[in-house]
This record gives sequence, C-alpha cells and structure tokens, in this order.
Amino acid sequence: MKVIVTGGAGFIGSAVVRRLVKDRHQVLNLDNLTYAGNLKSVAEVTGMSNYRYARADICSGRAVAHAINEFQPDAIMHLAAESHVDRSIEGPLIFVQTNVVGTAVLLEAAYEYWVELSDEQKQNFRFVHVSTDEVFGDLGTEGGRFTEDSPYRPSSPYAASKAASDHFARAWNLTFGLPVINTNCSNNIGPFQYPEKLVPSAIRTALVGDAIQIYGDGTNIRDWLYVDDHVSGLVLALEKGEPGKSYNFGGISECSNSDLVDLLCSHLDALKPRDDGKSYREQVKFIDDRLGHDLRYSIDSTRARKELGWSPVDTLATSVEKTLAWYLENPEWLEFSDSYGSRVGKPY
Ligand code: NAD
Ligand code: TYD
Repeated sequence: MKVIVTGGAGFIGSAVVRRLVKDRHQVLNLDNLTYAGNLKSVAEVTGMSNYRYARADICSGRAVAHAINEFQPDAIMHLAAESHVDRSIEGPLIFVQTNVVGTAVLLEAAYEYWVELSDEQKQNFRFVHVSTDEVFGDLGTEGGRFTEDSPYRPSSPYAASKAASDHFARAWNLTFGLPVINTNCSNNIGPFQYPEKLVPSAIRTALVGDAIQIYGDGTNIRDWLYVDDHVSGLVLALEKGEPGKSYNFGGISECSNSDLVDLLCSHLDALKPRDDGKSYREQVKFIDDRLGHDLRYSIDSTRARKELGWSPVDTLATSVEKTLAWYLENPEWLEFSDSYGSRVGKPY
C-alpha cells in the first residue's frame, strides 16, 4: 500500500513508519517537526527506496493537498498532534489549532482527493485517525473500563481537542462517506518518546540526580501499552477495520504512577546503581497535582481482539524492561531539544 503517515517523526508515528517501511509499504512521512518531532527516530528507514519524508504542516490545506495529490496514497494514518497534557494546560490554543483545525484540514484534503478516485479505489481507501482514551474522561473510583460506546467526557484541553478531532473524523465519514476508522489507545510506553512524558522524564531525572516528580499523591492510574503493540493494532485497523467504526486499544496493564516510578527505580537500582548505593526512590518527590488530573483510565479492547484479531504481546513488566534498556543505551533521547525543561520551571 501507499500510506501517508502524519506525525511520523514523533514517538508513535515513527514506530508506525518503521513498521510500514519494513513491511514493504510505500510510506510518505508528513511532519512539520515541532519540538516533539525528530527525524532521528526514523533513521533506520531513511534512505530506503520505499520511504520518503515531506516537511508539511497539517494546518496548511495547500501543503497537505500537494502532498496527497503528488503521492496518491491508498491510506492516510493520522498521528500528527500536540500530545502533552501539561502543555495544553499552559497553552491550550495550539492544541485547538493543530488537533482540531489541522485534522479538519487534513480530512477535507483527503476527501477532495478521495472523491475523484475510481469506485474500487474509493472503497479500498482508508483514513485511520489515531486518538487517545483521554477523550472518555475520568473513570474515578467507580471501576469499569472504556468501551467504544463510552460517553465522551474530556477533562484537559488536550483531551478536548482530541475529542473534537474524533468527532470531525466521524463526521467526514457519516456526512461525506470518507472511509474513516477511529482508534483510541491508552498510554504508550517505549523508545523515542520526548522526555516531557512520565516514563522518560522519570528515567532522566533519576539519572541526572534531580527530583523524580510525581503529581499529587501518585495514585492516578494509567493503562500502559507497549508502543509496538499499539502499532500492531493500528496496522490491523488499517487492514481489517470497518470504516465508520472505532477501535479501542489498551494493555490491561493498569498501574498507578507511584507504582510505575517504583518499578523504574528498582530496575535502575539493579542496572545502574547510584554512586552512594542508595535507591533512586530517595529522589521521588510528590509535587502539586496537575489541574483537572484524571484519576483512572482503563480500556476494554474486546472489539479489537474479536474483530481485528489484535492482542498485545508485551506486559507492563517487559515493556518497562525494554524501554529502560533502550534509554540507557540511547541517553541522548533523554535530553530536551527545546527550552521546555519542566512543567514547574520553564514554560515553553
Ligand atoms: P508526539 O508528540 O511524540 O509526536 C507528534 C508528532 O506530530 C511530532 O513529530 C510533531 O512534529 C508532529 N506535528 C505536530 N504538529 C504538527 C503539524 N501541525 N503538522 C505536521 N506535524 C505535526 O506524539 P505521540 O505521543 O507520538 O502521539 C501520536 C498520536 O497518538 C497523537 O495523535 C496522540 O494524540 C495519539 N496518542 C498518543 C498516546 C501516547 O501515549 N503518547 C496514546 C494514545 C494516542
Ligand atoms: P504523561 O506521561 O504526561 O501522559 P498523559 O498525561 O497523557 O497520561 O503522564 C502520565 C501520568 O503521569 C499522568 O497521570 C500524569 C503523571 N505525571 C507525573 O506524575 N509526573 C510527571 O512528571 C509527568 C510528566 C506525569
């Protein structure tokens, strides 16, 4: 297939690009390289004859239309986004611009292209919209899991922007017939993540001797999934998903932030002991809570398992081991490429 991947220089997008290129698809990576984008994440496929990169902003209808018309894709996998909740609290409008306006611009350009295709090409075309479980809001202390039918109740500006983006994607399917598939996934863990996020941030601060900051009391629960398992789900959604439907992906790996940091610290203690022989746990510091901090997310992936044949390979334990080993081998990925040092210290 010829696939355009937006956001292919980011954490998950680059994993999608690496997988598709290795699977011998023709891939155009469309990314405008914000602070979170880094082409080193696709270094292993750069130069391969079935991989190309175009620097383009999804908010520019002209640039996106040009890329689509020139590449003539069979599918678009849309991952470009502003993705960090803390940034969305400090500066929400860029999230509206990129995630809402950018997605609508991309959908419209995709539609303009799709509507001119032959009937067979039209039927086979796919627009896979990649989104988050955060659109469903907070499960709180009530238990339960998010299904594809859970109501949308976003808490943060990030989640609200992704919810809007999901709705626009659905609208382009229902109104115009564009073959859109929505996906909603839980927190990803793995290599090449920008170090503002919890896992690389905790590893970075541990290794440089700073405070490992946990927001609030650390009881907030996330449902962690190894990034390559998410990618497998997205590829299955592309190949087998039904247009107009959405699919949830999650790891059944719920873990509180405190327990996750604890796990990271115990592995670090074994792999790279502190000079003073003490545990990295000594560096943990509980700080003011994130505004509007959702307590618990948990995903029910029954539909993806039954209808796509998807199941995650990694557990939380293997995900943490692999991820930590990778960051220890690639410490340059723990350095910030912009001035955004921490939520507390340096606003971007
Ligand atoms: P990321 O922040 O690591 O990467 C985002 C990429 O998008 C970057 O390469 C950036 O340069 C690019 N980008 C941003 N604005 C752009 C624009 N206007 N035009 C073109 N490119 C632009 O994000 P990620 O963690 O890889 O997330 C990818 C997608 O998956 C997002 O849509 C996110 O909402 C979703 N998602 C993420 C997670 C997670 O745990 N990280 C979980 C579920 C869903
Ligand atoms: P994060 O990695 O930012 O992902 P998201 O907000 O999309 O879930 O945060 C994961 C969890 O970790 C979330 O509950 C907030 C918390 N957190 C901390 O406790 N300390 C930190 O330094 C960061 C970045 C996050």
